[in-house]
Amino acid sequence: MTIGTTALAQKRADEPVQTIPAMRNLDPAMVELGKKLFFDPRLSKSGFISCNSCHNLSMGGSDNLKTSIGHNWQKGPINSPTVLNSSLNLAQFWDGRAKDLKEQAGGPIANPGEMAFTHELAIDTLKSIPGYVDEFKKVFRTDKLSIDEVTTAIAAFEETLITPNSPFDRWLDGDNRALTSMELEGYKLFKESGCVACHNGPNLGGNSFQKMGLVQPYKTASTAAGRVEVTGKDADRLNFKVPTLRNVELTYPYFHDGEAATLTQAVDLMGRLQLGREFSKDENAKIVAFLKTLTGQQPQIAMPILPPSTDKTPKPRPFE
Ligand code: HEC
Ligand code: HEC
Repeated sequence: MTIGTTALAQKRADEPVQTIPAMRNLDPAMVELGKKLFFDPRLSKSGFISCNSCHNLSMGGSDNLKTSIGHNWQKGPINSPTVLNSSLNLAQFWDGRAKDLKEQAGGPIANPGEMAFTHELAIDTLKSIPGYVDEFKKVFRTDKLSIDEVTTAIAAFEETLITPNSPFDRWLDGDNRALTSMELEGYKLFKESGCVACHNGPNLGGNSFQKMGLVQPYKTASTAAGRVEVTGKDADRLNFKVPTLRNVELTYPYFHDGEAATLTQAVDLMGRLQLGREFSKDENAKIVAFLKTLTGQQPQIAMPILPPSTDKTPKPRPFE
């Protein structure tokens, strides 16, 4: 070892939170196709709603609505979680009913309250567009074009939606100037008061299902029951996948019902409901300041140009 190495930043390896892991090697052509599909409203009955409508990549991968708006202006039952860093989650959806991004991606296309299409019609649509047929053939090296290839490509694109290099990650990497003293005090409070029991790991969440209202019951008009819908076990009632706190500054409003409009409210409720603790105004502000250091580099996305429809492409049916 030379003397020079002592000047190197010391990584903080013992924290309950880790930096975002590097992305898996992905086929760039498949990612590009997945991006087109993510932005293509022709996968919906109306021809108007794409994945990006509710997971807007200009707004932290969410729609910033309490609950989403689906086909024909239907009010959705639940808040749309961000797609950013969702590849790091143990499962997808608030109740974890999809095991991974590929399984998840088939859901919204055929959900009558979301894109309101069918997988068959989505495939008919894609097959009627020569630009897509060629691209699928190149990427998958087969003439088969089914929902399987569609969801594989979308999932590959979603895997690229990670947001590294937030101020907090730079601090974890040893840059002492990456956080202000207020932000650092917020992180200490976050650790010491017990938030990290559930919001830990590289995604500060996404790795377990936990009860909403652990210490004090959560009162909400929402009928979402959480994990019990998947397991059938009553103990899982109101258990939700712990949401990631990465980019949480961008993904308001908060909770599965979108009832917390601000981070101040969300932190206050988390303190009382999950930990039985009332934070002072000052403590709350510190935690909020810390949470805002979790905003990472947003994916830089060039808008894809989609291949045009043809005479054979099924027509949009926005008002049916
Ligand atoms: C109409 C709005 C809407 C559209 C369109 C939509 N989503 Fe979603 N998405 C949601 C909502 C709401 C949820 C949460 C549903 C739940 O948990 O029950 C969700 C959940 C997800 C999740 C899970 C994230 C997590 O952390 O659990 C992913 C990933 C996702 N959507 C990707 C997509 C993709 C890919 C498409 C396009 C094929 C799409 N969505 C279309 C509203 C939408
Ligand atoms: C017992 C586990 C647990 C603890 C402890 C906990 N949380 Fe949570 N947190 C959750 C769950 C579960 C949700 C989702 C609840 C829901 O949507 O109904 C959540 C949601 C949140 C959200 C909203 C995120 C979003 O995108 O909707 C924020 C912000 C948050 N927690 C911050 C904190 C802070 C700060 C603390 C410490 C004061 C904390 N949490 C303690 C489990 C926990």
